[in-house]
Amino acid sequence: MQNALWQARVQIVVNRERSLKAGRGLLLALALGTDSAAYAQSNPVSRVAPLPRDDAHEVAPEAATGKSQKSVVYASRTMAVTANPYSTRAAQEILGAGGSAMDAAIAAEMVLNLVEPQSSGLGGGTFLLHYDAATKRTSAFDGRETAPAAAKADRFLQADGQAMRFIDAVQSGMAVGTPGLLRALEMAHRKYGRLPWVKLFAPAISLAENGFVVSPRLNKLLEGDPALRRNAAARAYFYDADGHARAVGSLLKNPLFADLLKRIARQGAQVFYRGAVARDIAAAVAARVPPGDLTAADLANYQAREREAVCGKYRVYTICGMPPPGSGTTTILAMLGMLERFDLRALKPNSVEAVHLFAEAGSLAYADRDRYVADPDFVPVPVAGLIDPAYLRRRGALINPARSMGHARAGLPPGASTAYAGDSLSELHGTSHLSIIDAAGNAVAMTSTIESQFGARILVHGFLLNNEMTDFSWIAQEEGRPVANRIEPGKRPRSSMTPTFVFDANNKLMLVMGAPGGNAIPNFVAKALIGVLDWGLDVQQAVALPNMGSRNRGTDLERGTVLDGEADALRAMGHTINFFDFPSGLHGIMVTPRGLAGGSDPRREGEALGEGSVISGH
Ligand code: DON
Repeated sequence: MQNALWQARVQIVVNRERSLKAGRGLLLALALGTDSAAYAQSNPVSRVAPLPRDDAHEVAPEAATGKSQKSVVYASRTMAVTANPYSTRAAQEILGAGGSAMDAAIAAEMVLNLVEPQSSGLGGGTFLLHYDAATKRTSAFDGRETAPAAAKADRFLQADGQAMRFIDAVQSGMAVGTPGLLRALEMAHRKYGRLPWVKLFAPAISLAENGFVVSPRLNKLLEGDPALRRNAAARAYFYDADGHARAVGSLLKNPLFADLLKRIARQGAQVFYRGAVARDIAAAVAARVPPGDLTAADLANYQAREREAVCGKYRVYTICGMPPPGSGTTTILAMLGMLERFDLRALKPNSVEAVHLFAEAGSLAYADRDRYVADPDFVPVPVAGLIDPAYLRRRGALINPARSMGHARAGLPPGASTAYAGDSLSELHGTSHLSIIDAAGNAVAMTSTIESQFGARILVHGFLLNNEMTDFSWIAQEEGRPVANRIEPGKRPRSSMTPTFVFDANNKLMLVMGAPGGNAIPNFVAKALIGVLDWGLDVQQAVALPNMGSRNRGTDLERGTVLDGEADALRAMGHTINFFDFPSGLHGIMVTPRGLAGGSDPRREGEALGEGSVISGH
């Protein structure tokens, strides 16, 4: 019910605020439609409890806040799918003004920073994939955070050599890495922006000045987060005088953020990376107890990277994504490569057989990921070997259709060095994914993150700082060998973010996809791809499929889905089962004969919105 009321209120405020022109054939298909009220009654939002964050097996990087029913949205010209209606509308506003997918992504991300502060923004990092329709070229932009120059390998170890409690590490100043998002957006805009930079900030500035309506998800996450209240700036902004989270439906203004955005809009990213803002960021990190070591010089020295996208084949399709330090694309290509020998199309979605094979492929692929993938500027990563078809055939032969192998050991892909040890510390690892296609057919798949929900819980100039340093391995050596993803000055922590493009047999872009979810992201994305490519589902059905898979520490099933009934059969095959809520946030666009189809994850508050007169949905 709360969802429906919030949606209605957002609608009223947006109608008042928005500059979307009438008569453009805009399809306003509300992703959280009226059926969410009925759904909420049968699935009370009280599924969400405050988070215990210390047990890897009980922790999702962002808590679940219930589900709503959503429908696929079709449109002929453009499509934007983001994690929040405000940001989707900002993207459409920019597309409607003649902006490119890249322009729209920047406007949407700035709005997300404001209205979904728990997940992403200026204080964090991003992986951004861009498809240029004219040249048919895919570019990969890396705005991953870097370790401060003063970082040492033992930063998350206690005096006795044991790892800190995860929640203590996340909330320490040591968690904060050098933010990379804005530099990456600036770099990508120089290449693929069509509208002037200054215009892209207008929607977020207006919302920050005039206020946005607090959503049920933001309210729940705020209410359940004691750590955020301990930061004075965050407490003053996010909570009332009694320490209660800003109410669902209330209007929240962020004048400090509006002011910062105005300066970035006029003067560029340097306003953030040099001068007073950089110094304020460093000071806020130093003021945290225990303090961190991020300096203004780290910010001044930060560089985004354009990298060669990693592409590989699955059946007739070509799948492209981020290279290292991204681990997602090599992981999904490895899973799919190992699964190719099975006829997944003959298996039913959600069947025990399908979950079994998917999980086994996950165990094998994650074992390699954990051992080999790290920042390629510091460690040789055998990218080609990890996705080599012959290697994957050999590795896939280890999958027994009748019996789980349990924990998988890393393989030795062609070109791999044996000098590095596996990373055995589980990642306990807020993140957001958006997908946009513009009128010219250019596309952006962008996943952005501040790591845990509300990041390090430090608010500066109205935005939150990341805790991305906890994405490193906390242990530098294992088995007498260095861990590839150990902490080193200036290094980027390995990421699971998996923004993805799929091309059809004629090399036409057919799918734009991605998700938040920490190290479960590759499983979420691989599930959605199999849903579309093998099971013939539409993009909405594919993102809504129950989440499952293995990160090589047991087999994960999404609680409260049909998978509940499969646990026993899977256990009988040797699987150790973990149940999770898995608020995945998969947001995708499929290019179909009927037009662009947008799908938004029922587990979050996202919305797909298109322009162009194709009428339909189910
Ligand atoms: O880059 C990564 O792999 C993680 N920092 C992503 C964290 C995440 O997806 C949190 N999601 N809800």
